[in-house]
Amino acid sequence: MTRDAAQHAHASIPGQPAPRWAELARLKNATRLYDAVIEEIDGRRIRIGDRWLTDFASCNYLGFDLDPEIMAAPEEAIRRWGTHPSWSRLLGNPRLYPEIEERLTELIGADDTLVLPTITHIHLSVIPVLADHGTVFCEAQAHRTIFDGCSVAKGQGATLHRWRMDDLDHLREMLRAAPADRPRLVCMDGVNSMSGNPPHLNEIAEVCRAEGALLYVDDAHGFGVIGERRPDETSAYGMRGNSVVRHLGETYDGLILVGGFSKAYSSLLAFIALPADLKELLKFAAAPYLYSGPSPTASLATVLAGFAVNERRGDDIRADLHRKTMRVLDHVRGLRIDCPNKSDFPVIEIPLQRSAELDEVAEVLWKRGIYVTLAAYPLVPRDQAGFRVQVTAANTDGEIDELNAALTELVPVLRTT
Ligand SMILES: Cc1ncc(COP(=O)(O)O)c(C=O)c1O
Repeated sequence: MTRDAAQHAHASIPGQPAPRWAELARLKNATRLYDAVIEEIDGRRIRIGDRWLTDFASCNYLGFDLDPEIMAAPEEAIRRWGTHPSWSRLLGNPRLYPEIEERLTELIGADDTLVLPTITHIHLSVIPVLADHGTVFCEAQAHRTIFDGCSVAKGQGATLHRWRMDDLDHLREMLRAAPADRPRLVCMDGVNSMSGNPPHLNEIAEVCRAEGALLYVDDAHGFGVIGERRPDETSAYGMRGNSVVRHLGETYDGLILVGGFSKAYSSLLAFIALPADLKELLKFAAAPYLYSGPSPTASLATVLAGFAVNERRGDDIRADLHRKTMRVLDHVRGLRIDCPNKSDFPVIEIPLQRSAELDEVAEVLWKRGIYVTLAAYPLVPRDQAGFRVQVTAANTDGEIDELNAALTELVPVLRTT
């Protein structure tokens, strides 16, 4: 870096966001729906200052964060194991770890699984290992953390290309043009974190298999919510919540699945579903297994308790979640609001006609006591500003009535068909 560049970089650090972040920084100061301090919670009600709001921004889809059986689990585990293992996994694994990986492998029907603290850790460390000095293809709408993992791979010698979900011919052409004697890794979201829609997984997997490329799918929002389809299923989400691969009848042949417990399972842990020999390689090649602190005991205990609840009550909870989500989506569709959600999954993005009206919308939601995720650039493309609603099984029907009433009031500023 030249001296001038170093001075410039230094000068832009304190309190002055780069233009890319200016809109988010402005909204953070202008609205009360970002960076809030939550003083207390009561079910899905949250208190910010002296105002109670209903939380539709939580990713705790199954309500496991408030489930008494799961809430009770950490106490005994902490008594046995202490609050935190504090060995990197390579140094020592409390027995809770193999128990989690065995149960998870059975649940999702993969060859093997490896758990690490977060999906972000996994993307940043595993994508570069899989891409090596080959080519990595990152889908245009992929989650920021996937893109970051691909960027690290590029920094370590891989070539990085972008592709679009709706142009598989282009993906195929690029795969054919890339050196076939080196890894070719195609990365994308499972259930999209904004639209709530799943990818055309079967078609994409077919292209990757035909071209000999490895497909890498992040299903942070699908795991726990959607699962295998069965004649006796309790809802259109399918059974067992065992993720997008099982939901769409795909296999793990040439496909690596990444998922997390920090959404539907309300716990700090994430996983990669992979062949057993790759797991052994990653124990040395993926930095967090060697160098990072592990998840706290409470997280490991709530994951195991979550598996038990999932087996016994998960499908009933998902049926309830589906019913509540449909109450919102039926209302949205009845009002002819232009909403990208075509899947009926509980992630509902509501774009505005004009992004400038986001402040006004935030004020209406605040006054009505509805807490959502504001979606401004660069969280979404500039022309898709709006907000995202997430329904959880812990939201009450009364809270959904309040949300629907707020949406009705907002119709004049929303995109309609
Ligand atoms: C699609 C997707 N991937 C990854 C993440 C990050 O997950 P983690 O908190 O486990 O790093 C998120 C979180 O919002 C996400 O939506």
